[in-house]
Amino acid sequence: MKTKLSARVRTLAPSATLAVDGTVKKLQSQGKKILNLSLGEPDFDTPKNIQDAAILAMQKGHTHYTTTAGITKLREEVAKKFLKENHISYDPSEIVVGVGSKQLLYNALMVLCDEGDEVIVPVPTWSTYIEQIKLCKATPCEAKMKPPFKLTVKDLEKKISKKTKAIILNSPANPTGAVIEEEELKNITKLAMAKNVWIIADEIYEKILYMDTRRHAELDSASKEIPKQDGYRTVTRQVRDDKVKKIQHISIASFGREIKARTITINGFSKSYAMTGWRIGYAGGPKEVISAMINLQSQTTSNTSSLAQYAGVEALTGSQRSIKKMADAFAKRRRFLLKAFVADLDRLSVVPPEGAFYLFINVTKCLGKEYKTSSDWCTGLLEKEHVALVPGEAFLYPGWVRLSFAAADDVLEEAVKRIKRFVKISN
Ligand SMILES: Cc1ncc(COP(=O)(O)O)c(C=O)c1O
Repeated sequence: MKTKLSARVRTLAPSATLAVDGTVKKLQSQGKKILNLSLGEPDFDTPKNIQDAAILAMQKGHTHYTTTAGITKLREEVAKKFLKENHISYDPSEIVVGVGSKQLLYNALMVLCDEGDEVIVPVPTWSTYIEQIKLCKATPCEAKMKPPFKLTVKDLEKKISKKTKAIILNSPANPTGAVIEEEELKNITKLAMAKNVWIIADEIYEKILYMDTRRHAELDSASKEIPKQDGYRTVTRQVRDDKVKKIQHISIASFGREIKARTITINGFSKSYAMTGWRIGYAGGPKEVISAMINLQSQTTSNTSSLAQYAGVEALTGSQRSIKKMADAFAKRRRFLLKAFVADLDRLSVVPPEGAFYLFINVTKCLGKEYKTSSDWCTGLLEKEHVALVPGEAFLYPGWVRLSFAAADDVLEEAVKRIKRFVKISN
């Protein structure tokens, strides 16, 4: 019997990064050693104090359903975190904890959007937004950005219409690592209020930021060798900028009551605390919307794992030393990569990421007869050199590829050697 699946899933694109990972696993099962730089997850284990909190919770018998929205203690701690770190004052009743920020994004879209609504998504983008918007029967509206991929209000103004229901903001961004400037966030605030649209702010990478003043000296040696490229923010320029301006994460909902009333701020533990497998995230927003999200969750997943919630309390209240250690390791790898690719800038160009743990690389000069698209190029790299990257097609930005540096130093060093070898022969 031929099964007729719903139209909803017939058009659903599978997660591109997970698809690359599937190919990697297949090659690995054939005995091939693959350097996998395709994954969007820290390569560190969850810090021990967090693991211990989950074990203790289990031993204490916290193994039952919790309230759908999450245990009170965690919602209280999330509210405190938002106030202290993000300058947003949410009551715990305005917080919902769910199965990762991915689910909360979906729930937010589900409770806000009807068929015919449009949601603006800055591109390059994490393709999950696009698919989730479609699942809600709304229409994604791509706001295409150019390198260095820093979103401006102008990018959004071009796309706004009477049908616009919401704008997705992701800063620091996947796949570019770009951080939206404070001035632009203020302009976007004005736009959202004037046009009566919602903001869904995905702040999952907020704690992984680079380019503070302390790190300039180390980047300087790389910057001198990078030639000026029109349209790109070169490393030289970046270093100069950041001597004046420190890269910082700012939550749009912190700009006042009015914008807070139309913003859903989404975050989670996956990236900051290396807790991808625990499946826990949270959202803050106006009570009416959060209540609707809780209601939706009560009919789908119910609460996320009770143990993950107790672990989440420890993550927020315990020592934050491990976050710094991980962030420092990412910063070191990022510096290594920027220096390593300097010599190849005639064929590759990179935009130095300001946050997250990805390097977005322009490979258009390596495309031609054999590799026509960045997707072909990634397949070639995987087959010939056994290095897995994600093609820009997965981020609606062909011609580029994403390299995740959430991988061990020796893996990165070997991968760079192989990529460079492949760049020389690819056309
Ligand atoms: C931009 C962005 N938002 C959200 C997520 C999902 O995170 P979580 O594990 O909390 O569902 C990811 C994961 O790759 C991401 O890149």
